[in-house]
Amino acid sequence: MQRVLVAGATGYLGGFVVKEIANRGYWVRALVRSASREEKIHDSADEIFEGEVTKPESLAGVCDGMDVVFSSIGITRQKDGLTFRDVDYRGNKNLLEEALRAGSGKFVYVSVFNGPALRHLDIVDAHEAFVDELAKSGMEFSVLRPTGYFSDMGELVKMATGGRVWLIGPGTNHVNPIHGSDLAVTCVDAIEGSTTEIDVGGPETMAWNDAARLAFTVLDRPVRITHVPVWLVWSVVRVVRVFNRHQGELLAFFTTMSTTDVVAPTFGRRRLVDHFADCREESR
Ligand SMILES: NC(=O)c1ccc[n+]([C@@H]2O[C@H](COP(=O)([O-])OP(=O)(O)OC[C@H]3O[C@@H](n4cnc5c(N)ncnc54)[C@H](OP(=O)(O)O)[C@@H]3O)[C@@H](O)[C@H]2O)c1
Repeated sequence: MQRVLVAGATGYLGGFVVKEIANRGYWVRALVRSASREEKIHDSADEIFEGEVTKPESLAGVCDGMDVVFSSIGITRQKDGLTFRDVDYRGNKNLLEEALRAGSGKFVYVSVFNGPALRHLDIVDAHEAFVDELAKSGMEFSVLRPTGYFSDMGELVKMATGGRVWLIGPGTNHVNPIHGSDLAVTCVDAIEGSTTEIDVGGPETMAWNDAARLAFTVLDRPVRITHVPVWLVWSVVRVVRVFNRHQGELLAFFTTMSTTDVVAPTFGRRRLVDHFADCREESR
């Protein structure tokens, strides 16, 4: 039986990956930084290892006996005072060093769609700098580059619940977001396959305006969308970057993703309308 370490197991994608791996009959060790966050994966993981990728000493032995290491560790909205470089690059590099020391056979990593072309953004550069480390490590690896996750699209439902959706720019760019459980299938396929670079998005491609209208439709509310001019958002990014580089870079990332087409080869079956309906029920 293959043994897989899942790092990022307490996150949105990692939780689905732990379940998918367990369903396929693998033995799973989940890396968590706090025992209090483990209940989400408790039933699917065979073993929990407490450690933090930014503290290499806490990782000693985490990859021992593991055939494959999967990582979806990355800062998204965490406010720990750490940078993308600290976590997405250095943290994952610490894990890679453990995997190399332990003789694991393969490392599967989640970066961002269009990563190589977006390295001027801190978050993307941190991911892709780690991909560079993987490529030169000599270990077999696979990197997935997904579009947006349904978890992020849920923000549209939150805004629509408040009566108005704010979109960056004209809302005419397209995206094909993906549900975590569909993406988890491609992640585990990557563990089993030999493709090194995988671009992936969900089954439906839509303009941001259509996604926002869908949120109002699901809530049965009148459509109210405000488009914030792109030049204005970039001016805000420039100011925020001076005072808080991390938040400025996060806004730069969302602005770029909202004002360019983010459409990857399609995979999966989960539809955004059903996710929005789930968000509506959860908020009741
Ligand atoms: N969201 C999107 O639309 C999108 C699109 C493309 C790619 N991605 C990338 O996909 C990856 C996974 O995304 P996600 O939505 O599943 O993220 P998430 O829900 O925020 O989960 C991130 C995971 O990383 C861990 N982590 C964060 N900071 C850490 C730190 N300082 N030390 C140790 N662990 C830390 C979290 O642990 P805790 O639970 O303890 O916080 C969690 O397990 C990220 O790298 C993200 O950049 C996201």
